[in-house]
Amino acid sequence: MIAQSIFLLSGSPVKKSDIIKLILGDRQTNQPGESFIATSFAPTNIALCKYWGKRNEELHLPMTSSLSIALPDHGSEVALSLCDAEQDQVKLNHELILPSSKFYQRLSSYLDLFRTEKNERFNVEIHSTIPIAAGLASSACGFASLVLALDQLFNWQLDKKSLSILARLGSGSASRSLWDGFVEWHVGERADGMDSFAEPIHAVWPELCLGLLIFNTNEKMISSRDAMRETVETSSFYKNWPQQVSQDLFCLHKAIEEKDFELLGKTAESNAMLMHATMRDAKPSIDYCLPETIAAMQKIQQLRQDGLPLYFTQDAGPNLKLLFCENDVAMVREHFNVEVVRVFSSSMTLL
Ligand code: DP6
Repeated sequence: MIAQSIFLLSGSPVKKSDIIKLILGDRQTNQPGESFIATSFAPTNIALCKYWGKRNEELHLPMTSSLSIALPDHGSEVALSLCDAEQDQVKLNHELILPSSKFYQRLSSYLDLFRTEKNERFNVEIHSTIPIAAGLASSACGFASLVLALDQLFNWQLDKKSLSILARLGSGSASRSLWDGFVEWHVGERADGMDSFAEPIHAVWPELCLGLLIFNTNEKMISSRDAMRETVETSSFYKNWPQQVSQDLFCLHKAIEEKDFELLGKTAESNAMLMHATMRDAKPSIDYCLPETIAAMQKIQQLRQDGLPLYFTQDAGPNLKLLFCENDVAMVREHFNVEVVRVFSSSMTLL
């Protein structure tokens, strides 16, 4: 508490490194295990109520709370250890990543935050079971798994709330990728963001399914980070967003509590549509849809009119995630070439 007030009284904007100091305290001098290889996994998450817009770019503090579901077995595995090389060694799905790439630079500058006085270099091997940068939240599970691995390597033994804040400093949506099931990231109100972290919602919904409808796995033209900044800065429509999010969160909590699938589906779909509407209103306009995306949306609406309880959500990419229940898996497969993910698979842990 004392340390937190010192930062706020100092008057200068809070930096990521201030937050690391605050969270790690004396642990900041922990030396990583020399030949130890830390391994971890974090699931990707799909927001039913999106995080769209920051109130603080440095700390990735959101304008609103958001709510997601994790996809069990779909995410990022990391093996992290020290290495003798001059610079970090990064491999993604067994391929060496060049230091000149954006991917490497983003990862390495995040690792800079955690190097001790010895200025150690890391060996990072990432295995991602989802396409990178295709709007499937690969950065969310990537940073979350990295934080879990750092916690092991340096033996910090931090609680999940602190890990969620550290993951947020890598990518906002990563704060939600430390749990299975439903997760809510609280907006918080503090300038240092110490109250802006995620927590699990303890509810199980075994019938809930999500279908990955992939049209394109190429890297997107504009990152979600840039798109959300441009939307906040230039879309006059964005002013409606925070109020709509409050209503959507209320409806999603109700839907989860009462297992009301229709309420869940229609709230998630309209939330995603509104997020994309704010982007279309940015100057210049941002549109992630491909013709296939629009055609699939229309088909979903038609199927719904014909009685199939099927909804979609869309992130910063052309792919759709379909929402439906176990009873309708066969019907959905008849109409779409989707990978079906059972959100609450029996092996998962909710704590
Ligand atoms: C559309 O978490 O990738 O997927 O904090 O700038 O790294 P940064 O953004 P990021 O944005 C995710 C946006 C979204 C919605 C969501 O996951 O809530």
